[in-house]
Amino acid sequence: MLVGPKTADDAAVYRISDELALIQTVDFFTPVVDDPYQFGAIAAANSLSDVYAMGGRPVLALNVVGFPRGSDVTPMSMLAEILRGGAEKAREAGIDIVGGHTVDDQEPKYGLCVTGFVHPKAYWTNIGGAAGDRLVLTKPIGTGIVTTAMKAGTAGEDAMRSAVTAMATLNRAAAEVGRKVGVRACTDITGFGLLGHLREMLGGVGARIRLSAVPILPGARELAAKGAIPGGSRRNKESLDRIVNYHDGIDEVDRLLLCDAQTSGGLLFAVEPGRTTDLLSGLSEAGVPAAAIGELVAEPEGRIEVAP
Ligand code: CO
Ligand code: CO
Ligand code: CO
Repeated sequence: MLVGPKTADDAAVYRISDELALIQTVDFFTPVVDDPYQFGAIAAANSLSDVYAMGGRPVLALNVVGFPRGSDVTPMSMLAEILRGGAEKAREAGIDIVGGHTVDDQEPKYGLCVTGFVHPKAYWTNIGGAAGDRLVLTKPIGTGIVTTAMKAGTAGEDAMRSAVTAMATLNRAAAEVGRKVGVRACTDITGFGLLGHLREMLGGVGARIRLSAVPILPGARELAAKGAIPGGSRRNKESLDRIVNYHDGIDEVDRLLLCDAQTSGGLLFAVEPGRTTDLLSGLSEAGVPAAAIGELVAEPEGRIEVAP
């Protein structure tokens, strides 16, 4: 076992030979958007992301499905659309969904169990970055806030479209650039939010983030200010408060944004300073929106400082 349950990593990594290691992960959740096809695509992109976050390539996947039998509100045609969204996203990732399992469940749920491959010396863990490494984030944050507002009917067209596009985007291209340039550590941003997943990268180092450098979905800050905050994002912020120093002037809305629980968020890389320009230009050439949002610092307590 190269990566097991002891570290809070994205997936398990198991060595098969000197040349090959297996990556294994499973993720599923309840609908984040009304459109069943989009939900399927987002859930699949999210599940595949944990393989990319380990520096690996997915090779096959299995469906994990909960769906109510004989319901008028959610007809079986809706399930077919969820599965079509997942299958097409998997195909975009270059793999097939080769089976799966469905249970009768009042609340629909969908996701994938994904198997991937990586060279046993080339996988990325969360911890592995050193003081001075730059932190590079792909995808804007704020999907928890925007999807909460969508459910309440208060999100604007632009916010909704941007959030759905971001969530359904594979982290494949981002991971390919990361492998080509060479990064030191990586994780993906999901339920614990940007600061929560950043915390998982702090093994004997601290971090400094510049709020103004963090890409945020259009409309997310306004919707958060109007109260569209998921319960999970509030809980994230509370559990992080004792390790985060926010500079004065960073208000509660911005603090909640940085802790906002994401669905199918981007990759967060720790990269040597000298490779940062190559990473950012490679991501830009690959059409991946990305930003250098801060750096790892010499701070053994694993604290996070947030500057304006
Ligand atoms: Co993950
Ligand atoms: Co996961
Ligand atoms: Co990881």
